[in-house]
Amino acid sequence: MRKLQNVLVTGGLGFIGSNFIRTLLKEPAFTGKIINLDKITYAGNPASLKDVQEQFLDTRYFFEKGDITERGVIEQIFIKYHIDTVVHFAAESHVDRSILGPENFIKTNVLGTFTLLETARHFWLPHKTVDREVLFHHISTDEVYGSLGTTGSFSETSPYDPHSPYSASKAASDHLVLSYYYTYGLPVTISNCSNNYGPYQFPEKFIPLSILNIIEEKPLPVYGNGKNIRDWIYVGDHNRAVLKILNEGGAGQRYNIGGDNEWENIRLLHTLIDIIARKINLDSEKIRNTIKFVKDRPGHDLRYAIDCSKIKKELGWKQDVNFTEGLSRTVDWYLGNQDWAGQIRSGDYQKWIEKNYEERN
Ligand code: NAD
Ligand code: TYD
Repeated sequence: MRKLQNVLVTGGLGFIGSNFIRTLLKEPAFTGKIINLDKITYAGNPASLKDVQEQFLDTRYFFEKGDITERGVIEQIFIKYHIDTVVHFAAESHVDRSILGPENFIKTNVLGTFTLLETARHFWLPHKTVDREVLFHHISTDEVYGSLGTTGSFSETSPYDPHSPYSASKAASDHLVLSYYYTYGLPVTISNCSNNYGPYQFPEKFIPLSILNIIEEKPLPVYGNGKNIRDWIYVGDHNRAVLKILNEGGAGQRYNIGGDNEWENIRLLHTLIDIIARKINLDSEKIRNTIKFVKDRPGHDLRYAIDCSKIKKELGWKQDVNFTEGLSRTVDWYLGNQDWAGQIRSGDYQKWIEKNYEERN
């Protein structure tokens, strides 16, 4: 088991990163420090770590505002905090945004990952300034593998076949990460995870967008015929898998992480409607009438499914939260945190949603 001491988390004000920081600080075996480097883009939200800030700021949790494409910023952080572990979440993460404007995806996801790798290589390898075991863990997605037909699943050896500028930029970053292992011997690990859901997810993604629109009785946009399939995993299960990899993963290894939980979008939406209608006493039939089938996303992958037997077998991880329980928890969280969502859904957010749907009408 590795001893994590000074952990640089990139993108820790985003959905998965903020949940990860909370999870890591609760881990009894972890006594180290977390340094969160985040640019605070539209998707980064300091309110997502308010509790962590109040309890741990400048003792075990440190925040640095900055861009992962800026070498000087990252170098300063490596020097100041004696970083021994990098957990790299920071990315532009939304497929629709990558279709409307791919440039930031290339900058952050490709150039940003490259810049982090270069810094880690220069600090960790030749100077041997770190007397501890070091690890660079890269968070990636199942979308790099492309789209499946009605059967089969992605394994760690499936060929890469990305279809959107988002997945292509993640694929490029994955290749860079592994190249640093083969070329320079940088200890790296990669995880490719399926669709996450849970608290603090930015409400441009399907589940939180649908939850909030149901609560606010707004139209429910479904792309195409609603028959695309995604594998859904609770964010806490993803993050426990990341912890397993940090502690016990093998250098140069890739691990697929999934929920073993495939759902057609339209079926998922009906389930969400039923859960929310029951919880807050709404008329589910009336809500169903607000479902609006809109023009499909270009290059829309039909189906993702993940074979995660490797991480189960080798690291003893498994999912903990079943979908009914996870969705119920998530809905409760959005119901109880309407301030968090309300703040996001005012201002620029609305402009983006309108622009996105203009493309689909
Ligand atoms: P998110 O969009 O919610 O958060 C991204 C965070 O990165 C934000 O806090 C943002 O401010 C920060 N960021 C963006 N560009 C930056 C830059 N140049 N420098 C520093 N910080 C920057 O994303 P998420 O959903 O939490 O995803 C996190 C990671 O997990 C991403 O790498 C994504 O590809 C991967 N992933 C996501 C999912 C999913 O379902 N959300 C599934 C599999 C993998
Ligand atoms: P999304 O949450 O954007 O994740 P990803 O594209 O990374 O899988 O979308 C999940 C699925 O839901 C995807 O098939 C597209 C679909 N979708 C809708 O039908 N309506 C929406 O408003 C959104 C945002 C997504």
